[in-house]
Amino acid sequence: MQRRTLLRSATALSGLAATTLLALSAPFALAQARRPLPVMEVWKDPQCGCCNDWITYLEKNGFEVRPFDTGNIAARRRLGVPEQYGSCHTALVGGYVVEGHVPAADIHRLLRERPAALGLSVPGMPIGSPGMDGPLYGGRRDPFHVLLVGRDGSSRIWASYHQPPSGAAAAQPPANGADAGAAAATATDRDGRPWVEAEVRRVDRSNRRVSLRHGPIPNLEMGGMTMVFQLSDPALLEQLQQGQRIRFSAALIQGEYTVMQIAPLP
Ligand code: CU
Ligand code: CU
Repeated sequence: MQRRTLLRSATALSGLAATTLLALSAPFALAQARRPLPVMEVWKDPQCGCCNDWITYLEKNGFEVRPFDTGNIAARRRLGVPEQYGSCHTALVGGYVVEGHVPAADIHRLLRERPAALGLSVPGMPIGSPGMDGPLYGGRRDPFHVLLVGRDGSSRIWASYHQPPSGAAAAQPPANGADAGAAAATATDRDGRPWVEAEVRRVDRSNRRVSLRHGPIPNLEMGGMTMVFQLSDPALLEQLQQGQRIRFSAALIQGEYTVMQIAPLP
């Protein structure tokens, strides 16, 4: 009886050994997937609450995150992310750059497949992307793409989210900040500053300030984010309403980010 049990467990053991051998000879990708995730470093904008929301979301999805409150623009430049792919935070994980509100599943896949590339980007700050979602945004889910960015600055679509049903797609303008940035770059204000597309998040009339969710601002070398601006002319306040979409130009005036001119969207 005892002997039979022993025999049986011996058989079980050799079966286990065979499985282990199989696992060892399985493709490299499988071995990669079983490794613990590398630590992710994140350089963010200190004024941007959605960066923290994205970090919390990543931690819930198995990542260990080391955040830096400043140095986002410097990190983006150092890591070679072209400005049109810019967002409010830049991360480095396993040798790849992750720019903006990229879903965790796409980062897991990136680390599993390890394509030859700079990394992933969700340009601008599309509403409905992780960290830019939930009740705070009224549950709104704008369509957006995750781009695989090459070392040569080219990109291709890695994943798409919240896409409208085909047919409606052509009528829907893309929501990504990169596209907004590209459109804005074709036109300038009366003083030659580039127009930037934005959504008015909050108008603070008593302090003469406005919070804008904006695309990249090329003349300030700023990626897309939500930020508070002062106004060059208090009269501009009269033109602003919460939830409105506008074009604006910006400049750094005495160390403060300032809205210079406002125009309706073309
Ligand atoms: Cu953000
Ligand atoms: Cu951010």
